[in-house]
Amino acid sequence: MVAVDALTVRSSVVSLTLLLVTVTSVSAARDPPYETRYFHQYLDHFNLASHGANTFKERVLVSDAFWRKGGPIFFYTGNEGPITSIWNEIGFMKDLTAKFEALIVFAEHRYYGESLPFGENTFARENMGLLTVEQALADYAILLSNLTAVFCQDPDVCPVIAFGGSYGGVLSTFLRLKYPNLVAGALASSANVYMSAGLTPGNELFQDVTEDFRRYNPRCPDRVREGFTEMERLSGQGKQGLLEVSSRMNLCSPLQDRADLVNMYRWVREAFTVLAMEDLPYSISNGPSLPAYPVNASCDLLLKATDGIEGIIQAVGMLYNFTSDLTCFDLHQDFVPCADPTGCSLMPGAKAWDYQTCTEISLLESTNNVTDMFPPDAFTEETRVAHCWERWGVTPRPGWLATQFWGKDLSPSSNIIFSNGDLDPWRRGGVLQNVSSSIVAMVIEGGAHMMDLRVPNPADPQSVIRVRQQEADLIGQWIREATNQRE
Ligand SMILES: *[C@@H]1O[C@H](CO)[C@@H](O)[C@H](O)[C@H]1NC(C)=O
Ligand SMILES: *[C@@H]1O[C@H](CO)[C@@H](O)[C@H](O)[C@H]1NC(C)=O
Ligand SMILES: *[C@@H]1O[C@H](CO)[C@@H](O)[C@H](O)[C@H]1NC(C)=O
Ligand SMILES: *[C@@H]1O[C@H](CO)[C@@H](O)[C@H](O)[C@H]1NC(C)=O
Ligand SMILES: *[C@@H]1O[C@H](CO)[C@@H](O)[C@H](O)[C@H]1NC(C)=O
Repeated sequence: MVAVDALTVRSSVVSLTLLLVTVTSVSAARDPPYETRYFHQYLDHFNLASHGANTFKERVLVSDAFWRKGGPIFFYTGNEGPITSIWNEIGFMKDLTAKFEALIVFAEHRYYGESLPFGENTFARENMGLLTVEQALADYAILLSNLTAVFCQDPDVCPVIAFGGSYGGVLSTFLRLKYPNLVAGALASSANVYMSAGLTPGNELFQDVTEDFRRYNPRCPDRVREGFTEMERLSGQGKQGLLEVSSRMNLCSPLQDRADLVNMYRWVREAFTVLAMEDLPYSISNGPSLPAYPVNASCDLLLKATDGIEGIIQAVGMLYNFTSDLTCFDLHQDFVPCADPTGCSLMPGAKAWDYQTCTEISLLESTNNVTDMFPPDAFTEETRVAHCWERWGVTPRPGWLATQFWGKDLSPSSNIIFSNGDLDPWRRGGVLQNVSSSIVAMVIEGGAHMMDLRVPNPADPQSVIRVRQQEADLIGQWIREATNQRE
């Protein structure tokens, strides 16, 4: 689920001032221009003896294009990728910013993008320990105290609303839980808060991927099963069988053993997962370009193909061969096995994500070929422990995130919106029921991953338009309440 993509970063650094470096980016049509600033953060917020006052530079994108003094601050809690790519994806927040005359701030998560605490040595084992959810939230909290002081003079007058999608939504939730003194409310889109804390059963993600395909045409999951079953049969015939699977799947290098085969299955599974997550009514080109409704489109290809294996190639090709110019599939380019069963990429940020899923964040999702269409593959705590020890010399600490961030009882908090699309396979990792009068769950019918936060599109269904309106109303209410309390 690493939200990194191939986008090229458009801003360039010009000059260093106060907190900060100021740079103006060239902007796409509907985007307000932003400045890139670099904020000095403590390396370690919780151990003043270890790194003293040593700091690193955290990248922050700020736009005051719509800002009215005393207006709210809309703060995006950056997730696992360069904040500049995330900026481009989050269109709805900018529309709201215009409406509420807010200051818009996108903060980059430590260890991602340019916010590297130890420069090029950031991903050395001995430097990874400062990558925790708590440190990232403390970065955001300190940054917010500073921003309100700098931009509002009287820090009490600018209510802060946190926004985030996916892991970013988990962070905006946690920011509201931990720092209600700084944040008046949070919009958490597709936030898998319960799953991340290890509080879900572990077979729901891929079941819901399967369900998305079944919903379009029940024959699709059967076709996928047929393909995998044929690969299993062939590979049962030893080396020759593995060679045949490799050749029929157009792989650049032949599978050597069972471990390679299982890795290839996971690479296929990941393609289906992405197609389900990105099942939008319009085509996208932010990263790999996909057609509108890629689940429908790939399912049509599956059913048209001569057999199951050919169908699987066509479907995964929609993602991995979106450029239509691959002569063969290089699994290692697309999929690096890691502590996230949906895989990591070759981007530097993927190392950080591997480490996070090796420590605090739990994503133990398995498949079984019964409740889902994928070969049985138990991604257990033992699998994770073995990988994490070998890769990073760490052992995950299950239960820690749940202990730290309120487990499954969020009701003592308030002012959080959890939005989820009912096509998003991650949704059951999050909050789908109203928790209290001010912690509300909103379901977007026909909605994919983070759909409400994306750039509004003429093809948007009424459901997402309605949910965005409800979100705007609630956020407006939080801002009014916060402002009244202070008067
Ligand atoms: C904000 O942060 C900068 C850099 O860390 C610091 O120089 C400045 O004093 C801070 N301002 C406030 C009001 O905290
Ligand atoms: C795609 O399939 C869904 C059912 O899963 C259906 O509601 C939708 O209308 C289909 N869209 C297109 C463009 O075929
Ligand atoms: C999936 O289950 C079906 C039905 O039980 C079985 O025939 C098939 O061999 C299984 N396929 C795989 C890849 O395990
Ligand atoms: C990628 O797509 C092109 C065009 O459809 C096709 O000719 C090629 O065989 C595909 N590559 C792979 C590895 O399937
Ligand atoms: C939660 O409550 C709101 C009204 O406050 C309602 O619009 C929404 O549908 C409810 N969500 C669920 C999942 O029942």
